[in-house]
Amino acid sequence: MTLLQARDLSLRLGTTQALQDVSVDLSPGDVVSIMGPSGSGKSTLLHCLAGVLVPDSGSVLFESTDLTRSSDAERSRIRLQRMGFVFQFGDLIPELTMVENVMLPLQLLGTKRSEARDRARTMLDELEVGDVADGTVGVVSGGQAQRTAVARALVHEPAVIFADEPTGALDSAAGELVMDSLVTAAQSRGAAVVLVTHDARVASYAHRNVTMRDGRVRAADLTSMR
Ligand SMILES: Nc1ncnc2c1ncn2[C@@H]1O[C@H](COP(=O)(O)OP(=O)(O)O)[C@@H](O)[C@H]1O
Ligand SMILES: [Mg+2]
Repeated sequence: MTLLQARDLSLRLGTTQALQDVSVDLSPGDVVSIMGPSGSGKSTLLHCLAGVLVPDSGSVLFESTDLTRSSDAERSRIRLQRMGFVFQFGDLIPELTMVENVMLPLQLLGTKRSEARDRARTMLDELEVGDVADGTVGVVSGGQAQRTAVARALVHEPAVIFADEPTGALDSAAGELVMDSLVTAAQSRGAAVVLVTHDARVASYAHRNVTMRDGRVRAADLTSMR
């Protein structure tokens, strides 16, 4: 069974061919890393897989929907219901507490506030940041903030989480804790993980790696893809 099947994605951004004929498959529960130098197209690929960007050509079949043929509204709905996101930093809302940040996706999906709060607290406990649930971004460590971002990405039980350099702003010990908890929590829910990273240690959490260079997948990785 395939969760996501991206075929021959090409996308020009300005004067740069950011993606050229990139294909990636993802099965439920897969953990795939995307590596490569800065500017090689990693974030662009992630955004195309998630339906944030629509490629000039190629297709992205996610579950039963071709994201390249869906409206903005349909792609937004799919992202909200079926996907979770973790970015490098700065994406928690600073005015809200950790638990309120984690409640947000559930509330956007119409979950009752009391139930959303219970599920968010359970998720924070699982990621071992329950003790800072009532703190704001200003009082928690960078690692605690990223584990909260992981909790927010997973709390609505998405089919896949996309993480773009999730440990890029952390020291290596905090980064390893974030990666451990991200992969463990995703796997225990059967969620697939797509992980963009510069860091070979972070990539070692993946089952499979795709290395990008100048908008293309490095030839050596093509044979290992299903
Ligand atoms: N909005 C944009 N307009 C023009 N060029 C862009 C834009 N976004 C990205 N690029 C270019 O596309 C290429 C790939 O970018 P990106 O996917 O962000 O790389 P990476 O994440 O691997 O560092 C780079 O050359 C970058 O400068
Ligand atoms: Mg990037």
